[in-house]
Amino acid sequence: MYVCVCHGITEKDIQQAINNGAEHVKELRDSYDLGTDCGKCLYLAAKIMKDNKTDL
Ligand code: FES
Repeated sequence: MYVCVCHGITEKDIQQAINNGAEHVKELRDSYDLGTDCGKCLYLAAKIMKDNKTDL
């Protein structure tokens, strides 16, 4: 599923970034440009990161 349509970033990409140590949406923005256009993906990206933290 696409999380960031503007930059073609999928949930799988975010999962991979989390596995590589990303802990904040800011890191996704710095690495993938997530949220740097319309910004509509930021809430969903933050939710995916939060859900992953609670799964640990
Ligand atoms: Fe991510 Fe537009 S959907 S910046």
